Amino acid sequence: METKVKKINREALCKEDFAEAVKILKQGGLVAFPTETVYGLGGDALDAEAAAKIYSAKGRPLDNPLIVHIADKEDIYQLAKDIPDAARKLADKFWPGPLTIILKKGQLVPNSTTGGLATVAIRMPSDQIAAMLIRESGLYIAAPSANASGRPSTTRAEHVYEDLAGRIPLILDGGPVPIGLESTIVDLSGEHPIILRPGYITLEQLKEILPDVVYDRAVVSRHQDVNIVAKAPGMKYRHYAPKGSITIYEGTEDAVVSAINQQAKEKIEQGYRVAVLSASETSGRYQYGLVKNAGARCKEQQIAANLFEVLREFDEEKIEFIYAESFDTAQLGQAIMNRLLKAAGYHIVRV
Ligand code: TXA
Ligand code: MG
Repeated sequence: METKVKKINREALCKEDFAEAVKILKQGGLVAFPTETVYGLGGDALDAEAAAKIYSAKGRPLDNPLIVHIADKEDIYQLAKDIPDAARKLADKFWPGPLTIILKKGQLVPNSTTGGLATVAIRMPSDQIAAMLIRESGLYIAAPSANASGRPSTTRAEHVYEDLAGRIPLILDGGPVPIGLESTIVDLSGEHPIILRPGYITLEQLKEILPDVVYDRAVVSRHQDVNIVAKAPGMKYRHYAPKGSITIYEGTEDAVVSAINQQAKEKIEQGYRVAVLSASETSGRYQYGLVKNAGARCKEQQIAANLFEVLREFDEEKIEFIYAESFDTAQLGQAIMNRLLKAAGYHIVRV
């Protein structure tokens, strides 16, 4: 299958730009599109066969449910049942935006979209291209991140092409996404609200609306514990991983810099291709390997926005060993470290 990339001008969106994408979606096909978090791989959420195509294009395990994207808050009443007040409050505060809400699944949603679960994940994206695609198609759009399963999520149309060319007919190219980490997921299907995936919307922000919201234990764990089962099926898989092995160093700035320099030097002497993932404040202090600066700690949004792209660059450079600083930044640290720890297979060293 040939994969077409269609550039969309955000400054001048017209309905015609979406005609081809809408046609493909209505026929049960797949279209990749930008959202404010990462690129999504979309298909008709109510069409079991479209869901099957999504799983197969990504090579995704079938038990890993998809997020249903909507363009109108009221749509939750079509897709879910027994909806608590909290859902309405969260939607009013954070939608459209980078928040996914898990609710009890309504009849309309096929089991293949929810990986057989009795719950459904719903999100109303704020990206104008995503919103217009959903509106123009008149569908609910199931969309996981548009990467090959296990690889870093895609923050540019070029990344989507890298992973999915030949497997999907169309990519809408809306340029680089602004946030760069996937949505925060809150589960409202049980007795207490639980954050299943940290994201741009933080625990503190959610607490203003839901004072009793907590993180799922698997989210805050610094190591992979076989006794803790992640409630979001997707969070249990090794994820976001470049081909090289990542080790994260945590400690005082001086200790981290010196440990990474020493490790990088050793591995280079052994003939390996080595890289360092650092913040801009410290990047000048690394002397060995390919040093990639993810952004400034004092502007943590930059680090979030660049993380997946930098992980992909390590693959392009055929890097075998990656030594990373820890990014426990003020607001987004939880979300950034959640992705980085998974990418590193929880390999973290305290120095
Ligand atoms: O920002 C985002 O959320 C992006 C964009 C495209 O919207 N989408 C995204 O989808 O990250 P995906 O499929 O890569 O991640 C969805 C996560 C997975 O970890 C999945 O297991 C979890 O959401 N999930 C989906 N439905 C669920 C449910 N009913 N119960 C628990 N977890 C669920
Ligand atoms: Mg994903």
